[in-house]
Amino acid sequence: SVMLLLNGPNLGILGQREPEIYGTETLADIEKAVAEEVSGAGWEVRSIQRESEGELVSAIHEHRLSSVGAIVNPGALMIAGWSLRDALAAYPQPWVEVHLSNVWAREQFRHESVIAPLAGGVVVGLGAFGYRLGARALLHLTGADK
Ligand code: DQA
Repeated sequence: SVMLLLNGPNLGILGQREPEIYGTETLADIEKAVAEEVSGAGWEVRSIQRESEGELVSAIHEHRLSSVGAIVNPGALMIAGWSLRDALAAYPQPWVEVHLSNVWAREQFRHESVIAPLAGGVVVGLGAFGYRLGARALLHLTGADK
């Protein structure tokens, strides 16, 4: 089975991007960590990072039926990513939202996520480790941990 690891704008430069906020681990490190968490269930990770909302929407459609679930860090698309939100609403598998930083402790404009009401759950503020938790949550939500 294939799970999606979706990351939105500005998340491809993790490790170099405001490391005091987002940590020093790279997206490659995160991909490895997530793969490690789900390998026991026989899952593979398809990691897709895009700077633009439309490309993320296309990726979600493309993997609609061929994936078992997704971890989604929408980046700033959390604020007004309505077409991402609609694509996820039409995505028939469980998915979990992850944010590296504690968005609640930051600027007001990060206090709401347009995709959060649809998520199976949300992990916030635990850095790269949050993706591991998201992966474990996904195994739980899909029953793959049984
Ligand atoms: C983020 C939080 C967002 O507000 C921000 O725009 C990002 C990263 C996080 O992982 O903490 O790009 O999603």
